[in-house]
Amino acid sequence: MRIDIISALPELLESPFRHSILKRAHDKGLLDVQVHDLRAFGLGRHKQIDDYQFGGGAGMVMMAEPLAAAIESLQAARSYDEIIFMTPDGVLLDQPLANRLSLKKNLLLIAGHYKGIDERIRDEFVTLEVSIGDYVLSGGELPAAVLTDAIGRLLPGVLNDETSALFDSFQDNLLAPPVYTRPAEFRGRRAPDVLLSGHAQAIEDWRLEQSLQRTRERRPDLLEEE
Ligand code: ADE
Repeated sequence: MRIDIISALPELLESPFRHSILKRAHDKGLLDVQVHDLRAFGLGRHKQIDDYQFGGGAGMVMMAEPLAAAIESLQAARSYDEIIFMTPDGVLLDQPLANRLSLKKNLLLIAGHYKGIDERIRDEFVTLEVSIGDYVLSGGELPAAVLTDAIGRLLPGVLNDETSALFDSFQDNLLAPPVYTRPAEFRGRRAPDVLLSGHAQAIEDWRLEQSLQRTRERRPDLLEEE
């Protein structure tokens, strides 16, 4: 899979994809993330990318022309399954959306800044608008990194144990059960005996029961869905 990200602050995206699971995905040739500096498409000598908003009001707006030029230069090389604008007024990112996007081949993410981007870019190019939560961040870079991580780890072959993403919280609408590792006793707290019992069926039953209990306590809304 390939993910292109257009950003006015590409430095913010230098590190997130260079470590751990996403690095492994890259090294295995499963995920190619390319970050593109919007400023390279800026207007005039100053490479302008934002301007005052029509009608007045605080905050700059990212201009249509540089964004259109950046998008079209990328579209000249490949066609995109989705062009995604990261914005607090988009659809909320959840596991089913990450699952669905992980099946695509080419994604283009737009990280906005300032007050937002000229609405005509949304009308003309954007096919999906995604929010990572009901709070406002100072730009779309961290949301783009969050979305890329959520998608990248789902690609077949990225996780060592291919089945492990299936047991994540939110797959099946359940939160994940608690996990333990050595030592069996830590400061007087013992790991549950069942996990040390070696009985595969008993362990599976215990994990499901714990998942259900945790979901009932913390996120009953997940059990009410569907
Ligand atoms: N840009 C700023 N805040 C955001 C959010 N919560 N989700 C996606 N993009 C954003």
